[in-house]
Amino acid sequence: MLQKDVKLDDSPKQWLLKKHIDFLQSFGKEKHQYESNMMEFLRMSGMYWGLTALYIINDGKIPQQEEIFEYIKICEHNCGGYSPAPGHDPHLLYTLSAVQIACILNREQDLPIDNIISYVKQLQQDDGSFAGDKWGEIDTRYSFCALACLSLLGKLNEINLEKAVNFINSCQNFDGGFGSRPGSESHGGLIYCCVGALSIAGRLDLIDADTLGWWLAERQLPSGGLNGRPEKLPDVCYSWWVFSSLNILGRDHWIDKEELKNFILASQDTESGGFSDRPGDEPDPFHTLFGLAALSLMSYDKMLPIDPTFCMPKCVINRLGIQPQILPHP
Ligand code: FPP
Ligand code: ZN
Repeated sequence: MLQKDVKLDDSPKQWLLKKHIDFLQSFGKEKHQYESNMMEFLRMSGMYWGLTALYIINDGKIPQQEEIFEYIKICEHNCGGYSPAPGHDPHLLYTLSAVQIACILNREQDLPIDNIISYVKQLQQDDGSFAGDKWGEIDTRYSFCALACLSLLGKLNEINLEKAVNFINSCQNFDGGFGSRPGSESHGGLIYCCVGALSIAGRLDLIDADTLGWWLAERQLPSGGLNGRPEKLPDVCYSWWVFSSLNILGRDHWIDKEELKNFILASQDTESGGFSDRPGDEPDPFHTLFGLAALSLMSYDKMLPIDPTFCMPKCVINRLGIQPQILPHP
């Protein structure tokens, strides 16, 4: 069957560092007010994407740090969870983003840590899984959010880690991959969540790294880009979900990195800066972070190193004294 893919013929090849810094700094300002309003329902994560992206390409220099921390505070709820914006409901996704932002700003000690822990704890179910919020949807992405959140706060021992690990393990498929729940199809994004959660728990021994590494390496298309599942188009964000998983598993040399770099560079916007999902589409902060983070993991230019498990600057993870498990090359 013919594979779906894209052509890179007229796409950019040069590295537009200055434009990306401008793109990230202008987000949230007047120029992008429309997009910013449209994104209100996920603004807290948008701040984490923009802040992390700017940090790794701008040598750790972040403007308006106090305003960013103030924003987290107005999204705090009595239950210990965070919402994407004031007036919205709290959710584990935005709680992790808030904790990540505070750690990057070196302000985690100013968070209501006990409250956050009790919020995360009460979302754990009897089978070890995590609900995303009080409405109860279960997904392995929330297992990652819970473990990452507690690990960043140095409180991983506050949940039933063994049950959490067993639930993730029960979502492993015959192809070596993971889905959102037991029996669900393998998916690049959820593989990152499960590999990342097991890396945090120090339980990568539960993964068949060769079988999963093979499935992940098969995601590279002739354009050099990676897709998230067979028969899907390549997408810059899977440069992160798939490539970071390979990196954690010690199998990142199983794909062609030069080809992947070419695909990511081809997805830059030459006018406004930033990256889109694939060449020619509109750029956004989500694909900009994951394109840049993948480039950093491939030691591109003078970018600061990124941690493959947390998708945060490596120096922040080191400062917190966290050592997520990474497998050596076989
Ligand atoms: C694709 O989603 C991506 C995922 C399922 C992974 C999401 C990961 C998290 C929420 C964990 C937090 C992440 C970080 C980096 C701290 P999609 O719904 O766009 O999938 P599609 O491509 O199939 O539409
Ligand atoms: Zn995408």
